[in-house]
Amino acid sequence: MSDPFDFGRPPALYAVMGNPVSHSKSPQIHLQFAAQFGLRIEYRRIQVDVGGFAQAVSSFRANGGQGLNITVPFKLEAFELCDRHSDRAAQARAVNTIAFRGQELYGDNTDGAGLRRDITQNLGCPLRGRRVLVLGAGGAVRGVLGPLLEEAPAALVIANRTVDKAVALARLFAARRQVTASGFDALAGHSFDVMINGTAASLEGELPPLPEGVFAAGALAYDMMYGDAPTVFMRWAEAHGASQVADGLGMLVEQAAESFQLWHGRRPATAAVMEWLLGHAADATEQPAPPGH
Ligand code: ATR
Repeated sequence: MSDPFDFGRPPALYAVMGNPVSHSKSPQIHLQFAAQFGLRIEYRRIQVDVGGFAQAVSSFRANGGQGLNITVPFKLEAFELCDRHSDRAAQARAVNTIAFRGQELYGDNTDGAGLRRDITQNLGCPLRGRRVLVLGAGGAVRGVLGPLLEEAPAALVIANRTVDKAVALARLFAARRQVTASGFDALAGHSFDVMINGTAASLEGELPPLPEGVFAAGALAYDMMYGDAPTVFMRWAEAHGASQVADGLGMLVEQAAESFQLWHGRRPATAAVMEWLLGHAADATEQPAPPGH
């Protein structure tokens, strides 16, 4: 393993793998984190063909790679490939962070912890005892439910266009009495303190069909996607009674901080990196990007 403090050697090598991956801000984020500790790292974006993931991981490792972030569409495959998993990766059945430990591939999932931290710490919005609505029932949502539930919300409703998928996901958390499933229509007449959009709708500039009156007084509307302009969900939420609106940029930086901590054993400061990213919005993707990376 190359020592990031040994200036006689090449910098330690990390990368994000996905398809597409050109939009990823992970290289800038990790380089800024590393600079906080005087660590020398190289962090690449690696576009991987569908069907070529396992081979790409193996080549990266053979070339001295020390850790990987994984984004769409490989998080499930990464889970299958890893020899050992953190509890939160096992719960999500998806991996967004791999650490190479000797011969072993250790898989973690930092997305949910990143989201939780952004909401509770950065945005100052407690989840404990609140009514939380999560939109969507795909991989992105599955990856974040565990950490959200650790905050002990009073209720957590999973609403999805295809109701059966929400029901199946809620069943995984059947031991938690506060988790229920719903379609969008059935939300009429209910209001929530925190609404988290984990659907892929924003990626297509679309909006889940939400009824009027879903926001309680002082509610936060959070889109797990991010882009260089507010998403259609954020604009709708602002116009329909949400008091606070945020995109997934903070989640992106916080999940990266969790990955950094797994690899380097230190927790980087995130606020300055977030500010830097906001100040470089011109470098951002024009289209909204998926959660994390
Ligand atoms: P991901 O891994 O990003 O979660 P996914 O597993 O394909 O991707 O899940 C996409 C989610 O976005 C699903 O919950 C999907 O709803 P369905 O299960 O009914 O397909 C949701 N979604 C995608 N486009 C949407 C839209 N235009 N309106 C509402 N929900 C949408």
